Amino acid sequence: MKLKKAKIDWDSLGFELVKTRSMYMATCRNGEEWAHGSLVPFGNIELSPAAVVLNYGQGVFEGTKAFHTYNDQISLFRINRNARRMHFSTKRLCIPQINSDFFVNSVISTVKDNLDFVPPYGKGSMYIRPIVWGTSPALGVRAASDYTFVIYVSPVGPYFKGGVKLLNLKIETNYHRAAPKGIGNAKAIGNYSASLYPLLKAKQKGFDEVIYLDSVAEDRIEEIGSANLFIYNKGILKTPKLNGAILDGVTRDSVCKIGSDILGLKVEETDIFLKDLFEAEEAFCTGTAVEVTPIGKVSYKDKCYKFNKGQIGPIAKKLQKTLINIQRNEIDNPFDWLLPIII
Ligand SMILES: Cc1ncc(COP(=O)(O)O)c(C=O)c1O
Repeated sequence: MKLKKAKIDWDSLGFELVKTRSMYMATCRNGEEWAHGSLVPFGNIELSPAAVVLNYGQGVFEGTKAFHTYNDQISLFRINRNARRMHFSTKRLCIPQINSDFFVNSVISTVKDNLDFVPPYGKGSMYIRPIVWGTSPALGVRAASDYTFVIYVSPVGPYFKGGVKLLNLKIETNYHRAAPKGIGNAKAIGNYSASLYPLLKAKQKGFDEVIYLDSVAEDRIEEIGSANLFIYNKGILKTPKLNGAILDGVTRDSVCKIGSDILGLKVEETDIFLKDLFEAEEAFCTGTAVEVTPIGKVSYKDKCYKFNKGQIGPIAKKLQKTLINIQRNEIDNPFDWLLPIII
């Protein structure tokens, strides 16, 4: 089947919102189940100024992608992992839990209605943003009685415009993003507001992003504001173990599995101390938006440490390429990660 495409300059897409035809919208009262939603034209929503989400940050979201694949299908990538994380995040924030079938079916409806906005094969992807908020008003701090779930989508190109960039990161010593037993492992909107000020300060000094340290001993790396971290040294690929403060990234898990099952690397989810980072041959970060992005250098206090002479390392390069190949259905692989929705 020839898939129709919207009139968009696909080559100039970056990571900015492009409005599409429709978004999905559902509501649910506390104590009820998420059941019925519908597609509505993409547009603004109306909220009470006393809405719990606006006052107390009761909201969680997801980020996932649809791809136009090599064999001319439109496929979702590991959507069940996002469904699982949404289920976890809603529970943690006292939002009526969104079950997997409802989540996946709603995502499929939204993508199908905006199919012409999925970039052509090889030109990017459709970013999908499911988000749920506590919308009823409350003056005192408490969970809302009413909730709204929305899914909007946007065609996206590379996160960093102008090709693969090597990140220049600051290791943050003044601020934390999250703490174990807090909400760092949920995709809660408040986690992102906590990261805005450190990010602003770092950007003013010429850094791209910050690396957060663990909030107890401050000697282990955790993640950056919107992606997980990896290091590679002496044949071992390592990523910080999930400690309750770190987001369980879908790309993180994919890179671990590609590393072990395709590249034959030893993969460890473990503590990564500052010293391990400084001595690493390669470092890179992973996320739905950033895919696999190499880190060129990190600064800790007054010292700067470079990886692979400031070039993308061979392991990061292989992982980056293999992940894209799998997402576009270009290579045989042992995983069952694509869900074709248009065949
Ligand atoms: C804080 C944080 N860590 C890690 C990630 C990477 O997660 P994923 O690979 O599921 O996109 C993200 C992005 O969604 C994030 O916001």
